[in-house]
Amino acid sequence: GLCNSRELFKKAVTGGYAIPAYNFNNLEQMQAIIMACAETKSPVILQVSKGARSYANETLLRYLAQGAVAYAEELGSPIPIVLHLDHGDTFELCKDCIESGFSSVMIDGSHLPYDENVALTKKVVEYAHQHDVTVEGELGVLAGIEDEVSAEHHTYTQPEEVEDFVAKTGVDSLAISIGTSHGAFKFKPGEDPKIRLDILQEIEKRIPGFPIVLHGSSSVPQDLVKTINEHGGRLKDAIGIGEDQLRLASKSAVCKINIDSDGRLAMTAAIRKVLDEKPEEFDPRKYLGPARDALMELYKHKNINVLGSNGKA
Ligand code: G3H
Ligand code: 13P
Ligand code: NA
Ligand code: ZN
Repeated sequence: GLCNSRELFKKAVTGGYAIPAYNFNNLEQMQAIIMACAETKSPVILQVSKGARSYANETLLRYLAQGAVAYAEELGSPIPIVLHLDHGDTFELCKDCIESGFSSVMIDGSHLPYDENVALTKKVVEYAHQHDVTVEGELGVLAGIEDEVSAEHHTYTQPEEVEDFVAKTGVDSLAISIGTSHGAFKFKPGEDPKIRLDILQEIEKRIPGFPIVLHGSSSVPQDLVKTINEHGGRLKDAIGIGEDQLRLASKSAVCKINIDSDGRLAMTAAIRKVLDEKPEEFDPRKYLGPARDALMELYKHKNINVLGSNGKA
């Protein structure tokens, strides 16, 4: 069945790799994630956002995730699969997800004053742990758009706060802000596209071996942006986090890396290409199939060449 993230994170931290956390909203995305992770023998975290839950219907998503476990076995590769709520914003939402079978939740109180973040996170942890569900908290605010709220600048995680936060809340993992951000436009042209690995090091000194999570970790592959723009798209100055930076982070206590935007780009590029080159096609399988294949290739590449999660299932 689905598992929580506790053992997976322990192994990832000591093994010097990161587990992929890929978002999904539909069947083809789920298929691509499972095909890629089964083939590369990688554990995986299936992420469902609040938006995904209302887009796809929570019941359908839950059964899709349970189906994913059986599907991986059918592919001959029974990999560990976590069903995780991405960016939970209230206790009630986390509770609902736990009741409906999620094995892990994020409570994102990062925008709240410190004491309120502690109180909310602690409340979710107490409830979740009664159900053997693991909890991710967050300290620091990412720049960029997050659930319709956008922050102009990064508020980096303060290393002085992390020890107190994990002790008071009892969280199982901590998302931090070190210069990553959500979406496809993370840096302006000419800006240095670097994340603050020095802050990560400071954080690790305060809570050695504690599982760290990076959100906003898409790399925005330029060949995908080019394909989109060559086939009628208009994405200007889309820039992501360098894979070299993520490779370094994966070797540290960072044990979960969130990637959504790159998958969106891969699907969009494949769909635009088919519809542009074959205007007579109208069978959804003829463009969703190639999109699914492109997504699978992207995820295999991430597992093998960036996160190092291949062979760790
Ligand atoms: O962090 C946000 C994830 O990419 C999910 O995005 O809220 O549009 O589903 P969403
Ligand atoms: P990206 O937008 O960089 O893919 O980040 C996804 C994410 O953090 C989901 O929680
Ligand atoms: Na790691
Ligand atoms: Zn996120």
